[in-house]
Amino acid sequence: MADTGENVNLSRARICIDFGTARSKASVCLDPTLPLEVGVKPLPVGAVSRAQHALLTPSVLYVDGGRIFFGPLALEYAQRGAAQGRDPLLSFKTVLGARDAAAILAQKMRPSVDPTGTLTHRDALVLYLAYLDQLIREALAVTQGMPPGVAEVKRRYTSPVWKAGNGPDRVFEAIFNESAAVSQKLGRLFLSAEGISIAQCKDALDKAIQLPGNGRLETGVFEPHAAAAASLAFTTAPTNFVLVFDIGAGTTDVAAFEFDERTNPPALTEITEARQCSGLAGDEIDRILIEHYFRRRGGDPSQAEEQRVLRMFKLSARELKQQLFAHGKVILRTGGWNTTTIKLSDLTDDPQFREYQAALTRIIAASLTPVVQRAQAVGAQVIDVVLAGGGSHLPFLPDLVRAAAAQNPRSVPLRVSPLSPASKLYDGVDPALGGAFPQIAMSVGGALIEMMPAA
Ligand SMILES: Nc1ncnc2c1ncn2[C@@H]1O[C@H](COP(=O)(O)OP(=O)(O)OP(=O)(O)O)[C@@H](O)[C@H]1O
Ligand SMILES: [Mg+2]
Repeated sequence: MADTGENVNLSRARICIDFGTARSKASVCLDPTLPLEVGVKPLPVGAVSRAQHALLTPSVLYVDGGRIFFGPLALEYAQRGAAQGRDPLLSFKTVLGARDAAAILAQKMRPSVDPTGTLTHRDALVLYLAYLDQLIREALAVTQGMPPGVAEVKRRYTSPVWKAGNGPDRVFEAIFNESAAVSQKLGRLFLSAEGISIAQCKDALDKAIQLPGNGRLETGVFEPHAAAAASLAFTTAPTNFVLVFDIGAGTTDVAAFEFDERTNPPALTEITEARQCSGLAGDEIDRILIEHYFRRRGGDPSQAEEQRVLRMFKLSARELKQQLFAHGKVILRTGGWNTTTIKLSDLTDDPQFREYQAALTRIIAASLTPVVQRAQAVGAQVIDVVLAGGGSHLPFLPDLVRAAAAQNPRSVPLRVSPLSPASKLYDGVDPALGGAFPQIAMSVGGALIEMMPAA
């Protein structure tokens, strides 16, 4: 039992890591029976890594000049390296979802990512998680009210539908244990601006295989379960039916729950027919945007200059898409005095984008149908449709939900909104952070949730 000897019992405490395709997040739950505002805290991992947002840190790694850089620094170096035909490792979480994940993990990374040919995808994952462990330790150290020893509590991770959410996956457990050893060995070197030499990383990785650490992995939590837990914990107007859409960068995860407070403790049952996982998420819009731009540019894609522009565009696509939706246009500097303006309508009129929206509407409709049936059967008045993940900011989503609902004329009224915190959890933190709640909710909910019985 993790007792710190200072009368703080940490036996119920856990840290939940949400290793997202684009952004990593982490939250600590000291005790799920405590009031939320003292029991659970999102950790400022982004503040420690010096990212744009205090609670979000970019999931990226970059190899340069024989050294490995992580997070915001990696992105910075990648921008400089684009001209030399070099790529950072972005979106590498999605590797885990591949059908032959084991084979891909064992593969060496592309030469454009690791020109030294040293690291496999698995190595990169172990290193990144060790880096994240260091960010978490530092974030805990700078967060007020954290009892001593809190860095050593159990760990959870959120996972999309493509991984079983119950019990730690053996492969993941081994990866966590190795990353614990690597984190201990390299320690605060992970936080230095100089990066870490590949030789040092390789040595730590080899030693970690021989002598793994204790990753303290308790369980994986299915991402929409975590989102639903956050949504139920923070809502001020609870409903009995919740349909969660977690639109991240790499995956859109959907799940629905029936909440019954007539029993004690209240029962949360998943309506499993609604469960889906799709690759139609934020990165797919970025891909369509990139293709649109390069079709318009009409350059020869085999030319070095075109390749450089493509690399730069890929690095900034997430940001550009966000600006495009927020301001209706973006102006790109494409070298020298040249600029190109992309209007939001250029994207929304693109046939690929229309097909994307149609496909997303079909996904929403497919999950909505069994929930509506169940809600009608028990005479429920309303279904909560909760939008989570960074994609919840996409302004067209509520319309897609309504279009999906209209396909079923006997629908139950829907209440569509992004996950939002009606809580004191953010008092004392920058109020602007509330806007990131749909993104950090999975780590918060994953830390809070008591394990659901296996469906
Ligand atoms: N204001 C915004 N408008 C549009 N898209 C946004 C906005 N903010 C973030 N996004 C997008 O949300 C995605 C990141 O969200 P999130 O952090 O939930 O993903 P993730 O957890 O890293 O990915 P996944 O869950 O798929 O592994 C990116 O595609 C990003 O461009
Ligand atoms: Mg996510």
